Amino acid sequence: MSTELPESYGPPPEGPAPAPSRRTFIATTTAVGGAVMAGGLVAGASPSAAEEASAADAPPGGRVSLTVNGERHTAVIDNRTSLLDLLREQLGLPGTKKGCNAGACGACTVLVDGRRVNSCLTLAVRLDGAEVTTIEGLADGEELHPLQRAFVDQDAFQCGFCTPGQIMSGVGCIEEGHTGSTDEIREWMSGNICRCGCYVKIVRAVEQTARGK
Ligand code: FES
Ligand code: FES
Repeated sequence: MSTELPESYGPPPEGPAPAPSRRTFIATTTAVGGAVMAGGLVAGASPSAAEEASAADAPPGGRVSLTVNGERHTAVIDNRTSLLDLLREQLGLPGTKKGCNAGACGACTVLVDGRRVNSCLTLAVRLDGAEVTTIEGLADGEELHPLQRAFVDQDAFQCGFCTPGQIMSGVGCIEEGHTGSTDEIREWMSGNICRCGCYVKIVRAVEQTARGK
């Protein structure tokens, strides 16, 4: 068979086509059969190839159930969704602020299972079953959380943009017991960068709350 293949690539012979030899016939039918078989495979493979292509295009997703401020939520999300975007865009909780969106400013701080995290750096899909507390869940009805009250007392708000993250971080700082001195509070609140320069009052608010515990 292999000896006849080069002929098929040469110039066409003059005159009527010769009758196919047995070997040519076998080679041809084998090639056609192969093509049919290959065609069948391709045809059979086409839908799954298309499905694979569209699956490859679609972002990987997953279902996540978590409790936010005491309320259970289940959402289907792109696996790349940050907790911050889930809270703000899917659960309608815009109190948590997006500052740098890169883990540098602390504006997006929330508590996950009682620990403070930068929600912009936390993949929501990994939090299945977690308990999340945001600034919206801190007050007890109309009653402000003691640290919220202290922020009012100490005039610790300025433009207010970073305040939710500062308060959530302050709650974590107090719960962790890092409030032995103003220096210690500053150190443990240093992940929250406030461009309005109201750190002194924020430290006082954290101190006031820690003392009242
Ligand atoms: S927005 Fe998350 S750390 Fe800045
Ligand atoms: S209050 Fe304005 S950045 Fe902090």
